[in-house]
Amino acid sequence: MSASTMVLPLRRPNGMRVLDLCCGAGGLSMGYYLAGFDVTGIDIHPMPNYPFAFHQADALEYLDRIITTGEVEEYELIHASWPCQNKARVTAWRGSRDDHPDLITPGKRLMQASGRPWALENVPEAAWDGTLRADYLLCGTQFGLNVRRHRAFETSWAGGGDLLPPCWHHKGLLAFQHKGERAYADAMGCTWMNKTEARQAVPPAYTEWIADQYLTHEAEAAA
Ligand SMILES: C[S@@+](CC[C@H](N)C(=O)[O-])C[C@H]1O[C@@H](n2cnc3c(N)ncnc32)[C@H](O)[C@@H]1O
Repeated sequence: MSASTMVLPLRRPNGMRVLDLCCGAGGLSMGYYLAGFDVTGIDIHPMPNYPFAFHQADALEYLDRIITTGEVEEYELIHASWPCQNKARVTAWRGSRDDHPDLITPGKRLMQASGRPWALENVPEAAWDGTLRADYLLCGTQFGLNVRRHRAFETSWAGGGDLLPPCWHHKGLLAFQHKGERAYADAMGCTWMNKTEARQAVPPAYTEWIADQYLTHEAEAAA
């Protein structure tokens, strides 16, 4: 379904805004939206199926610019899914890590310099080599989704909060090799994406939960 015709699910707005850097077709944006946030996405490629406000731009340049102008203050939270090809196991996609620069390190530096709360997401390998700290390590099975898809999140509030059930890797679960299939996109909850977009996407359930952790942390810090 294209962005222009998609009917967004009902949610209760919370009056806050998230900037989603490297948003793709909006898997993680959708989670923030469902949690109540208004979302603006930035991606270097056109994303005609992205369901929210969108700017095509280099995310590092964009963030650097809005920090300089002060526009960054309009966002309660900054999220980034810097490309994972520099970290992911080579067998997981057809390419070489060396052809892709590490954007996590300069991206995190900018997010820290923004002065805003932030969350960044990547493959678990990025935590194994210390590029990010896995404050949360999430899998689809923890949210009742029929997909095995692990993602590490580092947050400016250093994690904590609710406990999730452990992963449940039962037989019949859709794993990486099914990524090109329509069923995989649907199982992640990314029904508006085409199969190519869904290959890169992360289930909305992850950031709906991360948003909740952020709101809980802010409420506790304000108390
Ligand atoms: C893993 S995908 C993001 C998936 C997204 N979080 C989701 O759940 O649907 C990474 C995205 O980063 C984008 N990207 C790569 N380099 C970029 C850059 N320098 N600036 C902005 N976007 C970039 C790619 O086009 C791709 O859409």
